[in-house]
Amino acid sequence: MTPAEPVIAVSGLCKAFSGKVALDEVSMELRAGEVHCLAGENGAGKSTVIRILTGAIRRDSGEYVVDGRPLPVSLTPAATRAAGIGAVYQELSLLPHLSAAENLLMGRLPSRGGVLDRGRLREQARARLDRVGLGGLDPSTVVSELPAATRQLVEVAKVLGDEPRVIIFDEPTTALSGSEAESLLRRISALRDAGVAVLYVSHRLEEMFEIGDRVTVLRDGAVTRSAEMVEFTEDTLIAAMVGRDVEELYPRGTSAGNEGAALLRVRGLRPRGGGHAVDLDVRAGEVLGVAGLLGAGRSELLRGIFGADPPESGTVEVDGKRVPPGRPADSVRAGIGLLSEDRKELGLLPELSIRENVSVASLRGIGRRGLLSARRESGAVDEVLDGMRLRAGSYDAPVSTLSGGNQQKVLIARWLVSDVRVLLFDEPTKGVDVGAKAELYTLIGDLAARGFAIVVVSSYLPELLGLADRILVLRAGAAVGEVPAAEATEEGLLRLASTGVPEGENGAA
Ligand SMILES: Nc1ncnc2c1ncn2[C@@H]1O[C@H](COP(=O)(O)OP(=O)(O)OP(=O)(O)O)[C@@H](O)[C@H]1O
Ligand SMILES: [Mg+2]
Repeated sequence: MTPAEPVIAVSGLCKAFSGKVALDEVSMELRAGEVHCLAGENGAGKSTVIRILTGAIRRDSGEYVVDGRPLPVSLTPAATRAAGIGAVYQELSLLPHLSAAENLLMGRLPSRGGVLDRGRLREQARARLDRVGLGGLDPSTVVSELPAATRQLVEVAKVLGDEPRVIIFDEPTTALSGSEAESLLRRISALRDAGVAVLYVSHRLEEMFEIGDRVTVLRDGAVTRSAEMVEFTEDTLIAAMVGRDVEELYPRGTSAGNEGAALLRVRGLRPRGGGHAVDLDVRAGEVLGVAGLLGAGRSELLRGIFGADPPESGTVEVDGKRVPPGRPADSVRAGIGLLSEDRKELGLLPELSIRENVSVASLRGIGRRGLLSARRESGAVDEVLDGMRLRAGSYDAPVSTLSGGNQQKVLIARWLVSDVRVLLFDEPTKGVDVGAKAELYTLIGDLAARGFAIVVVSSYLPELLGLADRILVLRAGAAVGEVPAAEATEEGLLRLASTGVPEGENGAA
């Protein structure tokens, strides 16, 4: 194939969902040996393009050409797979109750005399896991027991198993820690160098600059710019995405070390599944950041505080009052809210409207106080939603019609309108676009200023440095240090998170 020949060419793609335009005349080309990034805000249409390319949904009109051959409008995922197109989706497609091996070889399980050949299944699964650096994983592990990042890599291994010539990644690094993301990016570069055509979607600009050869920017379903990556700077790329300049990303100065008693006080908390006892205090008005590598126990700590998983031991107090351990409902009553990393778990109710999904958490509050009128409630909900720049036609639309990032915003909004005073955020900006991130940071800053005590877990260190007053670093389930954000650096935090030893000291101690 000559380099001038695109593997995939789409032109004039249009798609509407019940009358609302999601894609408006989108054209782009994917070439062998090139990483093509697709950028845009939440709801811009990125996943819709991908779902059309993979045959998951039908285009309304437009051309879709693979290797010079036009594809019909009625496509199936099987047909696009046969054409050499593989995709790693934003919402993972693994079946949680099956083993990694069974997921990897689904549809082509090796058999001997009609009986599943377990030995070969293991062997073939091993080979696939090896390709994504998971050589050490036992292929018989059930997927639901794997951490999010490992699941993501298993998903990649599954797609690579088809030997695709085109691989599409829809936000593959959102669940990964910094070093995990780095190694995935290196794998993607290697695929590119081996002649694969890659389509890459991420909200992390630095990733696009790291691996992108070309970028197409969508805004409200239409292409605003498509050019070689080197023609962009971060600022011009953001401007093309949001159609305005994003003011300073981290607007908040660190608070002046607010004196006073802790609003959230945690003592000797050992989350379920071992780990060490962790103490922490967060005063009203403070943001405590929690850093650590994948598997350091950050989510487990938050889940233990909230009682989503009953802790082995330890106490949690809000405003001096003991919170009964291990019962989320009691935690909420005591004033603690958790935004978990796994969106699906704390449950959007897909058949309810956007507005109803937000007010769900505060319903109890209304009942108890009996004062807040439904009108005022919905006013408060709308105000929070407006502040999050939610891409939605109407707040009465079903929440299931929102894009992935916009659903995340709804979950955050839910806690913001509720009665809690302590907010635990696990990776709050996962999958959230750059414009909304800036607004979310402002919101978190405002909440702190209003007297909330906030704990933010994030794998994205610039975010912790910009948001938090203090940063607690976890390593292998233990707190290895706490640093004032003003004195912390990315390098220092990384060193502490990976070695447990602060800067300036040596490991011999
Ligand atoms: N099944 C659906 N029903 C109705 N509307 C939909 C459906 N799927 C997508 N949309 C709408 O199409 C538009 C584009 O959504 P899409 O998921 O492609 O956005 P995205 O760019 O991937 O955003 P994100 O960064 O949040 O993942 C949005 O307005 C979304 O609400
Ligand atoms: Mg999407």
